[in-house]
Amino acid sequence: MHQPNTALVTRCDYHARMKAAVLNEIPGRLEIEEVSIGSPGPREVLVRTAAAGLCHSDLHFMEGTYQTAVPAVLGHESAGVVEAVGSMVSYVEPGDHVITCLAAFCGHCEDCLGGHPARCQRKGADLVRRPDEPPRLSRGDEPLSQFLYCSSFAEQLLVHEHALVKIREDMPLERAALIGCGVTTGLGAVFRTARVDPGSDVVVIGCGGIGLSAVQGARIAGANRIIAVDMHSPKLELAQTLGATHVIDASSDDPVKAVKELTGGGARFTFEAVGLKQTAEQAFRMLRTGGQATVIGLIPLGTNVEVHGVELTNEKTLTGSNMGSTQFRTDMPRFVDMYLDGRLKLDEMISATLELEQINEGFEAMKSGGVARQIISF
Ligand SMILES: NC(=O)c1ccc[n+]([C@@H]2O[C@H](COP(=O)([O-])OP(=O)(O)OC[C@H]3O[C@@H](n4cnc5c(N)ncnc54)[C@H](O)[C@@H]3O)[C@@H](O)[C@H]2O)c1
Ligand SMILES: [Zn+2]
Ligand SMILES: [Zn+2]
Repeated sequence: MHQPNTALVTRCDYHARMKAAVLNEIPGRLEIEEVSIGSPGPREVLVRTAAAGLCHSDLHFMEGTYQTAVPAVLGHESAGVVEAVGSMVSYVEPGDHVITCLAAFCGHCEDCLGGHPARCQRKGADLVRRPDEPPRLSRGDEPLSQFLYCSSFAEQLLVHEHALVKIREDMPLERAALIGCGVTTGLGAVFRTARVDPGSDVVVIGCGGIGLSAVQGARIAGANRIIAVDMHSPKLELAQTLGATHVIDASSDDPVKAVKELTGGGARFTFEAVGLKQTAEQAFRMLRTGGQATVIGLIPLGTNVEVHGVELTNEKTLTGSNMGSTQFRTDMPRFVDMYLDGRLKLDEMISATLELEQINEGFEAMKSGGVARQIISF
């Protein structure tokens, strides 16, 4: 149990109460509760949440496929308006529109300085409050964990300034929220992790928010064939709207055989956006000589992915992508431009707009595989 201290009293002078979706046990559902949020420390920013997207990663943590400390306020894909900034923050000011990002960066480690901020290993040390400081989020005297540096399923967010990016004010915030995780992960996997070149064949397995963004990335990158794979035909139709040139229904067809036939031997780039051993192995088996498979989906902890060893000497690569290897302060404003000039389609990706109170229904719908992105509008 967290012991209240004097620092809590002096630091949490803002001490707003707000509604948030709390995960109290794992596995578990989210509960809408009144919680408290502190005032910004020197390098922190308080944001009024405009919208937050439901990502399958939230569900993995609710189901216990991945672990997080509870009680926690979930959510990690959001956009909003800055309400207050800490004494040392000069990057944003109240009124600025921002997208939050879990790929927060310390800015001084080897990975950050080497151009790979999404790999930053110092987040957990430099971007959170110390144990002797009052928590950013609390419920009475009890601290609540902040999920992935964001905790987006709440009316306000209190984040490190390195966990957000300023965007154009003509960008609708309900669309901008999607860029906070899914869109950036899918586009980034294509642009930054795999560096898809014009004219190459691309396969995307799984047409949720991540996979549909990878399909769009492949279209924008000028890929030749863009083959989308899913188990649900409405998702495959949506993939075609967003740029897929061919679709494979994995509930009836063998996707590896179908891709080899369509491409005359295999694809140059494949992307796994489901999070299963079976689909990760399919992504590798679909490759042509010299091809690269990128696993984006979160495969359950402890699960191994197997490849036929000899295929490695055919110069095939199996790799993964964390948040699309994003440099989000650069990437997200570009994606906003791509939406506003019509190249990136976000309206089509939103299956439903929900109230915070409907969040568990949203995750139930996600489990069925029938929806693309759902957003909570605040
Ligand atoms: N690496 C990262 O940085 C990162 C970031 C965000 C999300 N993720 C992960 O990406 C994955 C996808 O996330 P999402 O939010 O798009 O999920 P989602 O649930 O919205 O979409 C998953 C899609 O996969 C389809 N599918 C399920 N089984 C399939 C199969 N055997 N073959 C083909 N398609 C199948 C479903 O029908 C659904 O359309 C999740 O595992 C998520 O945790 C990873
Ligand atoms: Zn996510
Ligand atoms: Zn770093």
